[in-house]
Amino acid sequence: MSIISDDEFFEGQTPLKSIEQAKKETAVNAEDTDFDRNFENTIRPKTFDSYIGQTALKGNLKIATAAAKKRNMPLDHLLFYGPPGLGKTTIAGVIAEEMGVDIKITSAPALERPRDIIGILMSLKGGEILFIDEIHRLNRVTEEILYPAMEDFYLDMTTGKSQTVKTLRVPLPKFTLIGATTKAGELSSPLRDRFGIINRLEFYTMEELTQVVKRTAGILDIKITDGGAKAIAKCSRGTPRIANRLVKRASDFALVKYNEEITEEVAKESLEVLKIDKYGLDNTDRALLKLIIEKYNGGPVGIETIAAAIGEDVRTIEDVCEPYLLQAGLLQRTPRGRKVSPEAYRHLGYEVKNFNAQQALF
Ligand code: ADE
Repeated sequence: MSIISDDEFFEGQTPLKSIEQAKKETAVNAEDTDFDRNFENTIRPKTFDSYIGQTALKGNLKIATAAAKKRNMPLDHLLFYGPPGLGKTTIAGVIAEEMGVDIKITSAPALERPRDIIGILMSLKGGEILFIDEIHRLNRVTEEILYPAMEDFYLDMTTGKSQTVKTLRVPLPKFTLIGATTKAGELSSPLRDRFGIINRLEFYTMEELTQVVKRTAGILDIKITDGGAKAIAKCSRGTPRIANRLVKRASDFALVKYNEEITEEVAKESLEVLKIDKYGLDNTDRALLKLIIEKYNGGPVGIETIAAAIGEDVRTIEDVCEPYLLQAGLLQRTPRGRKVSPEAYRHLGYEVKNFNAQQALF
């Protein structure tokens, strides 16, 4: 399997890193960065057997890929959704490897002009996989080009002007589109309806993350104790991308300061230096929870107000901070805004008795 990424299609389109991007690159932010993309590419599992976690999804995909191979047909189009860092790109790569086909990887923001998507579609060979990340961000024209391509494998092209305009049907090879999104709700229904298989990726359990941590330490050729692996897994917010990043940082620590082994102490020291607490929260998460507690008596408070007060953008809060805070039971979304839980008070060292009567119902 070869992976052909954006860069080969869109030379020179990789923007310089913005200040916002640099700010996002904290150790427990699940959004991917250039560092992650390079690092992840070296450690990505290539087969279902080496892919840890997402057990139910893997079971379904094993059946679907085996059936497609038996029929000698490409897989149905697949949509993966869920918070960032849970392995949507990785599982797409595994599918390509298991099907024995090439995968072309791009993302919706790179498909700005009709010719971007047309160029890619026309370059596909039979059975190949096209992976579109952040698929909820496709523009309407690109989306409409995709409809007949996905459904009946052809492109509708127009030639000529006004009176002499002609529509040309260009056949395409049968291919599989894999879409990935953190925001399934923002997909239009005509696009969503064209995916045969729709799956949500779940947060990883502690045990699964511990396995991911050990596997990555092995690839980095660094020793790790059970305690070291567990300490890292515990702070990884259910997210392998974060676990891998923390292993890398702890392995730097172990290599330079200690005996080339990540013990529980080494892991804890490196997490402390990164200002990551036992829940895996970083400064931004804590600032968000503290703001709601100190200024809004636990909430509810609107997301725009929170974003302005802590100097983050709404999208980062919604896509990156919130999914884990919600799942960890520290935050709740209500129609009137965000509220924190008594557990958030306790975790940040506030007395729970400050929690007013209305909040206590939470
Ligand atoms: N690295 C990142 N995600 C992984 C996974 N699910 N299994 C194994 N290694 C991984």
